[in-house]
Parts: sequence; C-alpha cells; structure tokens
Amino acid sequence: MDTKIAIIGGGNLGTAIAKGLMKSNFSAQNIYVTRRKIELLQGLKAQGIKITSSNPKAVKNSEVIILTLKPYKTDKTLEEIAPFIEKDRHLILSMVSGVSIEHIKSIIKTEIPVFRAMPNTAIAINQSMTCIAAPNSKNGHKELIKTMFSNLGETVFMNEEMMDAATVLAACGIAFVMRFIRAMVQGGIEIGFDAKTASQIANQTVKGAAELLIQNGLHPEQEIDKVTTPKGYTISGLNEMEHNGFSSSLIKGILLSFNKMGE
Ligand SMILES: NC(=O)c1ccc[n+]([C@@H]2O[C@H](COP(=O)([O-])OP(=O)(O)OC[C@H]3O[C@@H](n4cnc5c(N)ncnc54)[C@H](OP(=O)(O)O)[C@@H]3O)[C@@H](O)[C@H]2O)c1
Repeated sequence: MDTKIAIIGGGNLGTAIAKGLMKSNFSAQNIYVTRRKIELLQGLKAQGIKITSSNPKAVKNSEVIILTLKPYKTDKTLEEIAPFIEKDRHLILSMVSGVSIEHIKSIIKTEIPVFRAMPNTAIAINQSMTCIAAPNSKNGHKELIKTMFSNLGETVFMNEEMMDAATVLAACGIAFVMRFIRAMVQGGIEIGFDAKTASQIANQTVKGAAELLIQNGLHPEQEIDKVTTPKGYTISGLNEMEHNGFSSSLIKGILLSFNKMGE
C-alpha cells in the first residue's frame, strides 16, 4: 500500500502500530513516526521507517495522520500541526483516550475527516480488539482503516458515543481479565501447583475458553453446561463464586469504570 502515514507520538502504541502496518504491507518508507526523544526510535529506523522529532515535517509528508499521544499533549500538538493540514489530502485517526472528534476538529479548523480508534495493549502482539468510530466516512476510508488494522487483531465499527464504553470493555477489559487470571493462579497454588505451572495452566485455559467462544460462536453458558454435571464439583465451585458476588462484582466494576470516565 502506498498510503503515506504519519504516526504522531511514537511511544508504546505508536510503535506497535508502525510495526503492524508494515505487516499489513504498508511500505516502511511511507511511514513517518515522531517523538521528541528520537533516539528511542532507532529500532524502527533500522526497519526502514522514517523518524523525526518534527511533527509538521511528518504531517507534510503524509495523507493519514495517526495520533498516539497522551491526552494532555494532544491540544498543543494539534495546534502545532494545524497550519499544515490540507483539505482533500489529510485524514486524522485519533487513538487518544477521551478526546472527541468535535474537540479535534475545533482545534485543526480545516474540514477533513476525523475518526477515532481505541485498541488495547494486545496490539503489541497483533491481538488487539480495536473499536473504531468513523462517522460520515466515504471514499473508501473505512476499507483503508480496516486494511491498516488487518494484522493487528479484530476491528469493530461503532458510533462515537460508544467509544467510552469500548474503552472500558476492551482497554480496561485487559486489566479485568488479568486480575481474573491472577486469582486463578493464586487458587492453583493453594491446591498444589507451583506458580509457574499454575500460570501456564491458567493462561492456556483462558486462551482456550476464549477460542471456544470465538470458534463455536456459542453463549458462555452453553459452554459451561458442557462441563457442569449434576451434583458435580464444577457447578459447586461456580455457585460458591456466584454466592460471593463473582458476576455481580465484575458487572459493578465495569459500570463504575464507565461512570468514572464520564465524569
Ligand atoms: N498503549 C495502548 O495499548 C493504548 C491502548 C488504547 C489507547 N491508548 C492511548 O494512546 C495514547 C498513547 O498511549 P501510549 O501507551 O502509547 O503512551 P506513550 O508510550 O507515553 O506514548 C506517547 C508518546 O508521545 C510522545 N510525545 C509526547 N509529546 C510529543 C510531541 N509534542 N510530539 C510528538 N510526540 C510526542 C512521547 O515521546 P517523547 O516524550 O519522546 O516525545 C511518547 O513516546 C494515550 O492517549 C492512550 O490512552 C493506548
């Protein structure tokens, strides 16, 4: 693909995206990555990606501008690049949490398509769940974005109003699942495994459970029915967890994170 791309803010996410784009056949020489500590981008440079500490230079050499900055750096950086943004040339794809399309447009002023995407940290291993809002997209923009993320995991398009919910379920969701796995490991140690073996068993069990749902397309309860025999020990354990608020605490946690985001 010969689309020219500028990734503004080459930290964890920006670097992961640059690598994923190369895997999706975007040419390294068409990708600019920026950050101030440019010496930390030598690894990308060695792979043919252009690096610079000048955001305007990257913008002038691009068509798609991907924002992977921390939210508090975003306004100033947008003000810096705004004079170099051209109508009918540029498109902005922002991955900055909690910054709306309307806010970005109000700073850059030039009328160009502005979209948002929310990946999760599994993007580093090309297993992201990336939620995308691309209102009023046309001219093959959706297809372009899909292609950009094709080797970085799964994508789903939604209205921008759902981006906070997507952040909680997909991005915070990684932490929720990690805590679940940690608890499984702790339980595993208590019933006799060393930490390494308990982790190996818990990790692969969670991966297998997710794959079962993805590949079979069933509701989790249908997979649970397959392993719970009447009067058996699986259902006893499960019910004990529910008596202690297992599902309820997860749902309440998700709600609290979501409400806090909205504050
Ligand atoms: N990590 C994830 O998986 C993930 C998932 C979903 C959403 N997000 C969102 O993505 C954004 C970035 O997250 P991150 O984890 O990648 O953060 P990060 O590692 O801190 O990356 C941000 C980068 O921006 C650079 N930067 C700061 N000021 C700049 C400027 N004026 N011009 C150009 N570059 C500048 C910083 O490098 P210098 O200090 O060298 O300039 C830094 O490397 C956040 O808004 C986050 O909420 C991240």
